[in-house]
This record gives sequence, C-alpha cells and structure tokens, in this order.
Amino acid sequence: MTAPEPSKTEQRKAEHVNIILEQDVSAAYDYWNDVRLVHDALPEVDFDEIDVSTKLLGRKLAAPLVISSMTGGFGGGREINANLAKAAAEVGVAMGVGSQRAAIEKPELADTYAVVREYDIPLRFANLGAPQLVAQGTKRAYGAEDAQRAMDMIDAHVLICHLNFLQEIVQPEGDHGARGVLEGIRRLAGRFPVMAKETGAGISRDVALRLKRAGVKAIDVGGLGGTSFSAVEYYRAKKDLATLKERLGATFWNWGIPTPASVQLANVGLPVVATGGVRDGHHVAKAIALGASAAGMAKPMLEAAKESAEAVVRELRAVIEELRAAMFLTGSRTLKDLSERTAIVTRPTADWLEAAA
Ligand SMILES: Cc1cc2nc3c(=O)[nH]c(=O)nc-3n(C[C@H](O)[C@H](O)[C@H](O)COP(=O)(O)O)c2cc1C
Repeated sequence: MTAPEPSKTEQRKAEHVNIILEQDVSAAYDYWNDVRLVHDALPEVDFDEIDVSTKLLGRKLAAPLVISSMTGGFGGGREINANLAKAAAEVGVAMGVGSQRAAIEKPELADTYAVVREYDIPLRFANLGAPQLVAQGTKRAYGAEDAQRAMDMIDAHVLICHLNFLQEIVQPEGDHGARGVLEGIRRLAGRFPVMAKETGAGISRDVALRLKRAGVKAIDVGGLGGTSFSAVEYYRAKKDLATLKERLGATFWNWGIPTPASVQLANVGLPVVATGGVRDGHHVAKAIALGASAAGMAKPMLEAAKESAEAVVRELRAVIEELRAAMFLTGSRTLKDLSERTAIVTRPTADWLEAAA
C-alpha cells in the first residue's frame, strides 16, 4: 500500500521546520542585549540554595520554562513532539504543541500531537490559531467543540490561541479575515483556560488590555527578536518563485514589538510568558527581572529535538544552570527575588517603553 499524498498543510509544516533548521531566519537585532542585570558582588546567598521552581497557571514547574508551540500535523512532527515531551517531563517544564488545525481537518494526524500524552508533562498547552475562530471565505469558524477536541487530543491544561496575522499576510495561503477574532477568543475564554500568544510580532499594552477584558488567563508575548516567520515565508516564496510574497517577507522580516519591551508592555496583571529570541538562561533571568512569569523557547528546542530527547534535556539543563548563575550573581535566592532586581533597559528597547506604554 502506498502512503497517501501529504496535504498542502502537511507540506507547509514540514517546510517550516526544514527552513528554520537550514536558513538564518532570525530577526536582525538581539533586543535582549538592551537589558542588563546589575551585578551583586556580595550576593549573600549560597549557589546551592537557589530555587528556580515556580507555579504557572496553577501548575508546578521545576523551572520557569516553556517549550514553545511548534509542531505536529506532518509525519516528522511526531518524533519531534515525542522528544520534546520526554524532555519536558524529565526536567519538569511546560510544553506546547503546534497548531492543531491539521488534525482537526484530518483526524488521522492527531497522533503526531497526541504522542505528548505519553509523558508526564506538568503543563501542556493545546494550540489553535485565532484566525480560525472566524469564517475565512468558504472555511468555517472554529468554536468550542473544536477547542475541546484540541484539548482532549493532548490532555491539555490550557489552550493557546495564537495571534499570527503577520504570518497570515506574508504567506501565500494565509487567512486575511481578522474581524470578530477577539469575540471568538472571548467565547473560548468563557469555556476554557486560554493563553493568548503572538508568534513573533509582540503584544502591545492596548492589545494586552483587550485580551484581559476578553477573559484570557495569561499572555505569551511572542515578540520580535527570535525566529521571524516573515523570514521563513521569504525563503518559501523564493523557492516557489512567488515574487510578491518574497518581497513581503523581506519587507516585514523585522516587524514587531521587541520581546523585552513587550514583556513590560503586556504586563496588565496576568502572567506573562516571554518568548522570542530567548536563547540562554541569562535571557530567561532578564525576562523574569522585567516581570515575566516564565520564558518560552522554540528554535533551540527544535534543533535539539531533531537530534534526540537527551539533547533537549541537555539544552534545558544548561539553560537552567545559566539562570541559576544569573540569580546567584544578582543575589536572588528565588524567582520572586529576581523579579525585584533592577533591569537596566537601554535603547532601542528603552525607546519602545517610553513611546508605547
Ligand atoms: C517550526 C516552528 C513552528 C511553529 N509553529 C507555531 C504554531 O503552530 N503555533 C504557535 O503558537 N507558534 C508557533 N511557532 C512560534 C513559536 O512558538 C515561537 O513563538 C517563535 O518561534 C519565537 O521563538 P524562538 O525565537 O525561540 O524561535 C513556531 C515556531 C517554530 C520554530
């Protein structure tokens, strides 16, 4: 028996992973360099007593880390998710799967996500795109039943609604309808614990307030500075000779609100997850000092997961060790102590905080 042809969505998902692994798709500027922690030459804390454990959305984590939503929905996604899940369970950190639309449209793909249920992950995030919450041309709007299926598929604790209109506008098959999306989020947030998440362009103060009023329980800022989906789409378009999309991808490569600025702007009294360009535990420490409850990492986890679950564990443990070192050097025994330390913010990130607050 020959395997059925992969659908366009499956092909796209495989292409995204391959492009992200093979090309430079990072934003041009590292905004984490604009944030400095103040060294404490007399920390008055023993390194061994530093405690990085925390609670996020009611779930206990060994460290304030989220393996960000990435994949599922194509053949290779299953192994990546299994490796990420095994490591998340072993280390005790949160994990999200990629958009589950593929499996809602084609239930035989559910297994590429559901594999994460086999591991005891302390906080599991389901994932649906906010654009799917409204009808797009002939495509129906997703509602509570679809969200329930996504949650059940991975036994999720929390549902992520991702906001990705930058990606939708630069990708050839993008959904362009945005009217009614906030209302769709409000409906889901009335039934499920929802975390709103950007995918690379950040969350402003105004958007954070609108999301809070809609009832979301947390915000993942998904800011500018890490993986750029405009860059990813640029490479896809280049390959397909889609000149206009290639141009759009290049033009909007660095569009968005820098992650560290967004962490402060989106802090409206809900837990904030700092995702976008987080590459080490020093970045995580900066995020916590700026007010984040946890930090999310995607690309570095994908690279490790392509190798093995052990490689993901190694990467997570290294990040935690760096976070502990930064805590030691700022005299912080707990994450709460760290959140009270001064973070010096320089330009251009400081300009964002001045102009956009
Ligand atoms: C291969 C890949 C696929 C992704 N797919 C999704 C997705 O389906 N849903 C989502 O919310 N974010 C998705 N993202 C965005 C990440 O969760 C994250 O916000 C973004 O990559 C920035 O983090 P980074 O700089 O650490 O890569 C994806 C990222 C990668 C690398």
